[in-house]
Parts: sequence; structure tokens; C-alpha cells
Amino acid sequence: MKIVNSIQELKRYLAEERQHNRKIGFVPTMGALHNGHLSLVKRCVEENDVCVVSVFVNPTQFNDKNDLATYPRTLDNDCALLEPAGCNYVFAPTEAEMYPEPDTRTFDFGTVSAVMEGARRPGHFNGVAQIVSKLFYAVEPDNAYFGEKDFQQIAVIRAMVKQLNIPVKINACPILREDDGLALSSRNVRLTSEQRQKAPLIARTLKESTNFAAGKSVQEVIEFVVNTINADPVMRVEYYEIVDGYTMESIKNWSDADYVVGCITVYCGEVRLIDNVKYK
Ligand code: PAJ
Repeated sequence: MKIVNSIQELKRYLAEERQHNRKIGFVPTMGALHNGHLSLVKRCVEENDVCVVSVFVNPTQFNDKNDLATYPRTLDNDCALLEPAGCNYVFAPTEAEMYPEPDTRTFDFGTVSAVMEGARRPGHFNGVAQIVSKLFYAVEPDNAYFGEKDFQQIAVIRAMVKQLNIPVKINACPILREDDGLALSSRNVRLTSEQRQKAPLIARTLKESTNFAAGKSVQEVIEFVVNTINADPVMRVEYYEIVDGYTMESIKNWSDADYVVGCITVYCGEVRLIDNVKYK
């Protein structure tokens, strides 16, 4: 496994790989890797000849300075996990490498980037599109892998590659969970032991709501989820929206879409957790 810091060096290695007709898979991350990330790496290794993983904490997607400052940075440990997972190249650029000039691009992907996370985290998806487009230009992967934990992010990335004509296949991977259902996240380490004990309520309630939904309206299911989670004083639901899984538009009736997903953001104490569940 090679650890590469510059785009030029990365391009040199990957040009060589391409000369041998090797298919290149790519997993973008911000590091602090856990088994959720590694499940993406596993799929990337299985489905490609070369696996590239980027580790870069992208400043332009953080709308909260404190979140950026306290984001865990553990490159040595990340590399120790990536090598046995079969990764061939770790791309770990500096901020100056990725942003030699300020990125002044403003994207508009319509509804997919405007609702839910887009509405609560101004600039977040714009920053994601900035860095992921730059990473795609650097790696030029055949396949890229994203986790469904960040469900809306995948829709934004799909819209971006379409808008920019970037020739890459976007692959969505299922959410990896702890045994108690909590979705793995780099932010979980910030939970106190009491919060960590309570956090599985989110995934449990989402799962229960898929049974509760039989014979109920969309609005009743939303109320069930919000009230069940908010009943715990440690938890505060920021939003729960049941959307068309392709367009991210809220649905009113179950028949409004073929692919229906509920997306939630909950503050567990100070820690902002996201999760989602598929209804159909
Ligand atoms: P990061 O939060 O590090 O996540 C990297 C990838 O791992 C994302 O595609 C995310 O959805 C996936 N992931 C995280 N937890 C997961 C879990 N429990 N199960 C399955 N997949 C999981 O998402 C980002 O970084 C950034 O926005 C990035 C795309 C790298 C751009 O900076």
C-alpha cells in the first residue's frame, strides 16, 4: 500500500495502473475510519483491480467551525486499518494541495441539495460537491463507493456527476450498524456512556416505524417517530422527513413514490446523529 500526498504523484501511479487495463475503485473519506468505512473499502476491493481511499478532512463542507476543529484526525491508525483491508493507495493530501486557490464554485442541484441536511447545514453540500469533484478529477475512478448512512449525500453526488459529466459509476452501500442498531459514525466517540446507551433508540424506533406504518398515514408515522424519540430527555429530533428516495422530496401519501425513505437527524446531548430507514 502506498501513501500519496500529491495529485501529481497519484496521477502518475494511476496512469501506470490504467496502462495495465486495471479497473480503479475509489472510496472518499474524512478518516477516523471505522468498520462502516471499511465495509465500503471491502466492496471496492472486491469489485475493482485497484482500490484508492482518500483521507481528507474537507474544511469547505463544515458549517460549524468547532466541528471542524474537533473532527478526529488519525491518519496512522487509518493506514493501519486500510492496508489489511486491501487498499492499494491512500491519498492523504494537505489543504493547500486540494485548495491551491479558494474554490469559489457554487453548485445548484435543486431539491436534492436544498432540503433536510441542505437546509440545516448551509454550504455543506456545496463543500461536498467541491471536494468530491476535485477528488474525482484527481483519481478518475471507474467506480466510487458511498454509504447510505449519508443518504442525501449520495443523491447530491449523483446529481453532481450528471451535471459535470464526470464518467464514474456511483455505488451505494448499506449502513453498517453496531449490534444494538446504532449506525457506525466517527462522531459516536463523542457520546458519553449514558448517551451511547440511549442512542440505539433512534435505529430501533425507525425499524419499529416500518411495522407501525401498516394502515397509517405518512403524517402519523412521522409523529410516531418524533414523539417516541423525543420522549427520552437526552434526545431532540431536529427533523424527520419521509421522502422520495430519488428526489428527496417529502411525500404526503405512500403512493407518491416507488422508493420511500425516512431520514432523521437527532441531537443526542450535543452530538448530532443521522440515520435513515427504507419503507419501500
Ligand atoms: P465520512 O463521513 O468520512 O464518510 C465516508 C463514507 O463512509 C461516506 O460515503 C459515508 O456515507 C460512509 N459511511 C460512514 N458511516 C457509515 C456506516 N455506518 N455504514 C456505511 N457507510 C458509512 O462522507 C464523508 O466522509 C465526506 O462527506 C466525503 C464524501 C468524504 C467528502 O468530504
